[in-house]
Amino acid sequence: MDHFLYKGGVLHVEDVPIPEIAASVGTPFYVYSTATLTRHVRVFDEALEGMEHLICFAMKANSNLGVLATLARLGVGMDVVSGGELRRALFVGVPGERIVFSGVGKTREEMALALSAGIRQFNVESEPELEALSETAASMGATAPIAIRVNPDVDAKTHAKIATGKSENKFGIPISRARAVYARAAALPGIEVVGIDVHIGSQLTDLAPFETAFRMVADLTRALREDGHAIRRLDLGGGLGIPYERSNRAPPLPFDYGAVIRRTVGDLGCEIEIEPGRLICGNAGLLVSQAIYVKQGEGRNFLILDAAMNDLVRPSMYDAWHDIEPVLEPAPGAARAPIDVVGPVCETGDTFARARELPAIAPGDLVAFRSAGAYGAVMASEYNSRPLAPEVLVNGDRFEVVRPRPSYEDMLGRDRIPDWILPAEEAEDAAE
Ligand code: LLP
Repeated sequence: MDHFLYKGGVLHVEDVPIPEIAASVGTPFYVYSTATLTRHVRVFDEALEGMEHLICFAMKANSNLGVLATLARLGVGMDVVSGGELRRALFVGVPGERIVFSGVGKTREEMALALSAGIRQFNVESEPELEALSETAASMGATAPIAIRVNPDVDAKTHAKIATGKSENKFGIPISRARAVYARAAALPGIEVVGIDVHIGSQLTDLAPFETAFRMVADLTRALREDGHAIRRLDLGGGLGIPYERSNRAPPLPFDYGAVIRRTVGDLGCEIEIEPGRLICGNAGLLVSQAIYVKQGEGRNFLILDAAMNDLVRPSMYDAWHDIEPVLEPAPGAARAPIDVVGPVCETGDTFARARELPAIAPGDLVAFRSAGAYGAVMASEYNSRPLAPEVLVNGDRFEVVRPRPSYEDMLGRDRIPDWILPAEEAEDAAE
């Protein structure tokens, strides 16, 4: 079920026409669908039915409090990677026992915060981190439940910048060293071994690398149990890809991913944790922008939008494709022509699409970037002193701004001019 449909010739998010939101908040803006978020959680729950499991939303994909609160109310846990994300999870009322903490560079301060929140599990990524966690927990008289993230040296067959499961990547402990590191962990004060963690990459469109990695985790589970460790949880990470290009082959469904989990680790009696980010929120969000100019170049034409790479960096950072649709439905059979879709930022990398076949779009028209709910707003910046795009959450026929656009006063007010720089008038007086 798609909650982003044309109704009466106008693109809607659930029951709200996009031009209504644009008139209220201006452009560009992000908009998310509650019904889609909810459906994606259900789809994962169904895929894992019959296995004890917890979905920990990887909030790096979208950490807006409105989105997190929506997911928290569905009983979803959170995968956090910083003290900031941990605070967001706690703020929306996710209980500590549903929070897992991932990431290669946890500081002692972050560990202490997580220990006081009584989080479910630390996914430990290195031996120095293990020692630091032990010291921190012991000094607080606390015990840190841990899974060790193993690096299975599996090729996830995704974009190099988001592949994490090869030995040359910075993530996890080589699976060949796992038994030794688990033995060390078991001997350390303040540490309780509870499971194994693996995450091999993001936007995977093939299930085979998951299958290979999960089988290795299953073997490791048996080996560690023989060594006397009580492995009761398996955190299988996130990474299941989503369709970005509707005309293209669809990535595997969560149901099939669930089947891989069932047949690789389903017989171990472990509680399964998964950390999906993109699949929960990617196709639950759009970036809506307005056309400023259409420019005829030499041999190519440019559609210049009011959104730019600072709002949605994925095309320039990962050569990512996002479908672009006019908000007013083109007439059936309307002519399409190739056009470069760009933003106003002063670099050539500020290009959303090259030679994209689009129907005629005129200045003032609204367009929607699909699949922008994951790694969109969270990766935005104020480059070129462009205000962060606001975020809007739709629920049925209602919408609410869940993050307003900052004012220019807000933006300028965040900087400070040092005391040693005299105000202009005083500088002039001093020079005289
Ligand atoms: N768990 C861990 C430990 C992760 O590092 C990640 C993503 C996830 C879960 C969630 O993966 P997902 O289900 O969303 O694929 N900015 C990039 C994606 C970076 C992914 C980083 N780690 C992009 O826009 O494609």
